[in-house]
Amino acid sequence: MTILVTGGAGFIGSNFILQWLINKNQRIVNLDKLTYAGNLENLSAIEGDPRYKFVRADIGDAEMVSDILRSENVKSVINFAAESHVDRSIASPEQFIQTNLVGTFNLLEASRTFFDELDGEAKSGFRFLHVSTDEIFGTLGPNDPPFDEETPIRPNSPYSATKAGSDHLVRSYFETYKLPALITNCSNNYGPRHFPEKLIPLIIHRALKGEQLPVYGDGKQIRDWLYVDDHCEAIRNVLEHGTPGQTYNIGGNNEITNLDVVNKICALLDDLSPREDRQSYVSQVSFVTDRPGHDRRYAINATKIRHELGWSPKETFESGLRKTVLWYLANSQWTENVTSGEYRQWIDRQYASERKAWQ
Ligand code: NAD
Ligand code: TYD
Repeated sequence: MTILVTGGAGFIGSNFILQWLINKNQRIVNLDKLTYAGNLENLSAIEGDPRYKFVRADIGDAEMVSDILRSENVKSVINFAAESHVDRSIASPEQFIQTNLVGTFNLLEASRTFFDELDGEAKSGFRFLHVSTDEIFGTLGPNDPPFDEETPIRPNSPYSATKAGSDHLVRSYFETYKLPALITNCSNNYGPRHFPEKLIPLIIHRALKGEQLPVYGDGKQIRDWLYVDDHCEAIRNVLEHGTPGQTYNIGGNNEITNLDVVNKICALLDDLSPREDRQSYVSQVSFVTDRPGHDRRYAINATKIRHELGWSPKETFESGLRKTVLWYLANSQWTENVTSGEYRQWIDRQYASERKAWQ
């Protein structure tokens, strides 16, 4: 019995696979298209492990997915594959429609056909877990209660709209076809192997290169940060013990402004890798034009997963951020490798003279 993971060469998917193989003696097939965000170097530690197989494919390729489901006798599908960067979705939304909506649809269709062919324990044990985001809920005011599973879905960016659409499709496959599907809606993740276009790795990378640290708008936007290993553990929990048809919110209980995040990274770097001139990295902070439609605040109420499945995060923001900075300091070659090619062109466009691509 095999688990099919999609998007396993990306940030969360690769951390999930590494953690899975440590905790479980169960085979994993990783189906990934290897977009700019997919990086097989993330999984070099398990190259050659007989429990692991990589297939380069698109989740929209229903024929390929069907072949894998049948030939590998797949027990569960975990869908991480997505276009995931809000800023890219603003500059060019089309690929988000293709992967997040059309791709998820094709993956669901292949899974439904396969599920219909199953019987007995294989059928009762089959699961389709869709990994989604808290961004589907839109934005919170300063005094609003955190998002729970009943919060109305009001996405504000093309990224979050396509994720919301994919969540609706997954839900409909449970209600209509009885596909045993589960959805997780998680807050912002951080940790090792995070592509350096997202806030935390971008700030670490640019700080060390002596570049400006771009803070959008006033920097008072709030995110609820969760260490990636905690998210991966929550997903394993939902897969094994969650109730099909349910959604589970996952969060770190760590509401913090972007500016505070940037200042904390600078303080860690001042300590762990001080600048030659002994000035603080904070001096590199630069306030730039805000993102259009920028959500002001996200916060998660994770009571349901805590009460029903006994999950809660292990890492504090302080301990997780320290681990993350140490990982980037020890793995500068990883960053070098991903900051070439496609990514390089994007970042040049995005940060050319500190102006944004949408201006
Ligand atoms: P990522 O961008 O780092 O990785 C995405 C992976 O999907 C890459 O390996 C890429 O090659 C692959 N991929 C993209 N399009 C594909 C396609 N059509 N077919 C097959 N593979 C494809 O993303 P991430 O940060 O690891 O996020 C993983 C999932 O978790 C996403 O669905 C995202 O919406 C969700 N999520 C992310 C966060 C976060 O903070 N990063 C928080 C909550 C939920
Ligand atoms: P990001 O990592 O892109 O995640 P998301 O938009 O999915 O929350 O951004 C996190 C926050 O940091 C978000 O409020 C936008 C902000 N941000 C900056 O201020 N500067 C940057 O260069 C980036 C990439 C993000």
